[in-house]
Amino acid sequence: MTGIICGTGSYTPSYVMDNNEIATMVETNDEWIKERTGVAARHIIKDETTVSMACEAAKRALADGRVDAGEVDLIIVSTISSNIILPCTACEVQKELGAKGATCFDLSAACSGFVLAYNTALAYLFGGVYKTALIIGSESLSNLTNWEDRSTCILFGDGAGAAVMKAGEGRTYLPVTYSDGMKGKALTCSSRHALADTCRMKDPEYYIQMDGQAVFKFAVKKVPEAVSEVLEKNHVEKEEITWYILHQANRRIVEAVAKRLDEPMEKFPMNLQEYGNTSSASIAILLDEMKKDKRLKSGQKIVIAGFGAGLTWGASIIEWG
Ligand code: ACO
Repeated sequence: MTGIICGTGSYTPSYVMDNNEIATMVETNDEWIKERTGVAARHIIKDETTVSMACEAAKRALADGRVDAGEVDLIIVSTISSNIILPCTACEVQKELGAKGATCFDLSAACSGFVLAYNTALAYLFGGVYKTALIIGSESLSNLTNWEDRSTCILFGDGAGAAVMKAGEGRTYLPVTYSDGMKGKALTCSSRHALADTCRMKDPEYYIQMDGQAVFKFAVKKVPEAVSEVLEKNHVEKEEITWYILHQANRRIVEAVAKRLDEPMEKFPMNLQEYGNTSSASIAILLDEMKKDKRLKSGQKIVIAGFGAGLTWGASIIEWG
């Protein structure tokens, strides 16, 4: 028994902020941003929220998988940027879908969140606890972005991606996941809800702060290690892998991971040029794009790998259904 992805969906806001627009806010330019990150634009919420984007991506995933909301037993939303704390975002999705039979909870693991949501749903399906799961990554990082900090505001974007998983016959691949709370200060953001004084909203600590070089070094070392380990653990050769779908943080990180794994860049699809870093939504949005344009084919083995604040990182192997 395993969990098989049978439908995907995504939602990205229609408002597109390109690098030239960012250059009107902070001292930067299109060439610098593209060269250092690969990002050309990002989609930014106007009327949308983390909840509304999660709901839309979920509806699209259910429609794509031809799964009725009544069949869904489990909804997991991965987010660090919801517009609500209570009820959880997953319960709001349940309400919108009318998925009355679902157990719902949110998961917070930043840019590793979608991989962890996949692993969690897989464990429930593998164990026979549930038959149908909906996993969603939804982020409004623009709300956590300090638009006066050029070292971070160039990186992030908003959006949501979702996948429906069904229990079925097949092999279950064991994931590799790690956390290192001791290195947490590399990427931080304090909770607005701890604010006693709303004037302090201007304090940088209430926005994403990052030691960019530390995060970069962490990612290019730990992601290839996790990918190699997940292959070895499951006795899968890298030649069997069609795609490595990494969290979309930075083109240079993806290129460095490909180089360290000695694998061709063609196996590392990217859409960060259009969306920036959408944290836990990034892998799900890319999976949806690749399913829709038919790059994903039945039987392909895919590695997904996430990394980010915590620090957290991990990799899983998906056999496409
Ligand atoms: N435009 C122009 N110049 C800039 C900008 C900018 N937007 N940002 C920084 N600079 C300047 C700096 O001030 C510095 O100038 P100085 O040499 O005069 O001091 C110079 O550019 C170099 O700065 P670095 O920080 O060394 O630039 P670097 O090459 O490291 O690139 C970056 C910065 C893009 C943030 C890089 O470190 C990076 O990508 N790190 C990983 C970040 C990441 O991916 N985080 C997310 C992963 S986890 C998650 O998704 C939450």
